Amino acid sequence: MNQTDKPHQQASTLWSSRMAFILAAAGSAVGLGNIWKFPYITGENGGGAFVLVYLACIALIGIPVLIAETMIGRRGGRSPIGTMRHLTASEGTSRGWRAIGWNGVIASFLVLSFYSVIGGWSLVYIGKTAFGAFTGVDADAVGGQFGALLASPVQLLIWHSVFMAIVIFIVGRGIRGGLEKAVKLLMPILFVLLIVMVIYAMTTAGFSEGVNFLFSPDFSKLTTAGVLTALGHAAFTLSIGIGVLMAYGSYLPPNVNIAQTAISIAILDVAVALLAGLAIFPLVFANALEPGSGPGLIFVTLPLAFGQMPGGIFFGTLFFALLLVAAVTSAISMLEPVVEWLEEHKGANRFKSALFGGLAIWFIGIGTVLSFNIWDDVHPLSFIAAFEGQTVFDLLDFLVSNLMMPLGGLAIALFAGWAMQRARLPEDIGLQGAVYDGFMFVLRYVTPAGIAVVFLYNLI
Ligand code: PHE
Repeated sequence: MNQTDKPHQQASTLWSSRMAFILAAAGSAVGLGNIWKFPYITGENGGGAFVLVYLACIALIGIPVLIAETMIGRRGGRSPIGTMRHLTASEGTSRGWRAIGWNGVIASFLVLSFYSVIGGWSLVYIGKTAFGAFTGVDADAVGGQFGALLASPVQLLIWHSVFMAIVIFIVGRGIRGGLEKAVKLLMPILFVLLIVMVIYAMTTAGFSEGVNFLFSPDFSKLTTAGVLTALGHAAFTLSIGIGVLMAYGSYLPPNVNIAQTAISIAILDVAVALLAGLAIFPLVFANALEPGSGPGLIFVTLPLAFGQMPGGIFFGTLFFALLLVAAVTSAISMLEPVVEWLEEHKGANRFKSALFGGLAIWFIGIGTVLSFNIWDDVHPLSFIAAFEGQTVFDLLDFLVSNLMMPLGGLAIALFAGWAMQRARLPEDIGLQGAVYDGFMFVLRYVTPAGIAVVFLYNLI
């Protein structure tokens, strides 16, 4: 296959090194899911035993799809839509598989529209903490500040716009000049900030309780629903099934070993989730707060803790900066499939594609902004019992996280495991012999069965 046959596999547009790709994909994986969602669902599901199941799901479902999706992306060398169009032809498979590409580009478009609004909250909270808005205030006042933010469409819109502007700026500068530079700077900062937070947590009275909560499994606390939550989260946290890894994979140099790389990415992602748990739970226990308090855990509970602890302004500001960095490196990965497609199909240049794609996403994001205030009683699908009372934001989140991502992941596992021609797979994936056979067994049977179970569970 020659170079021009794969428009995005030209030397000048590839990631400069294996490390650059690892940082970018880990940057995509590490996000609100690790720092906000993982601690709170672990809190709700009783700790240690849930963490073990989550780790097993990362190994059996997350890593196989991560490998398959990246491999498909590199082999196609195009946007997810272009890649699937190309591969269905070159592999001689049904054209129906092309839906994987469309699903990816549309899902990443939609997910960014609401992720950006929440990313904007971290911007607000950096400012609030830095200026001492939480110092010495009580729980009601902290909750009141969060409520006031959500009630203000103007504030939400401003910060959503600032967040999107950052994302457009980075993606518009291209793979090497934008995404790669950003992740090389931001990911080490994220690790340092996180380690500082963990060291601080070690000095608090709640540290050993926090460690016990995370690492001593008590299987009597684990429910079936908890197992399914762990499975769903393993997929979300690795950013699989949504075209992001296919797009990032399309810029991966041909000599990089995908299996080894995917394992490094998964290890980094899990490490950040566990470190976030180690930074957050000691604060929660030391301040006698509630570990399972959901979305409020970091925006309501933690500011309360920061407002009362010595050095709280410093550590609080640091914490929300960390959240912002994690959110930005995930958000840029969500814009990439859309931009790559616009460049390819509309022939627009990189910056214009980022600007127009980003503006369209910003516009759809207004629906999420309004869901928390003016439209909080607008429930578009209330004629369907299951969607009663769901706002535009709730519906978007459900559509992407519970339908498009699991279906995308399932289709990717099936396409790579069953539909693609076998001859070049071991070399493309970077595995041989018995290890390759074992991997293919998991990809063909275990992974699809696992995803199907979560998918059906999320539907009911
Ligand atoms: N993995 C990211 C997180 O944990 C979320 C994400 C989903 C990013 C889909 C990209 C694509 O927050």
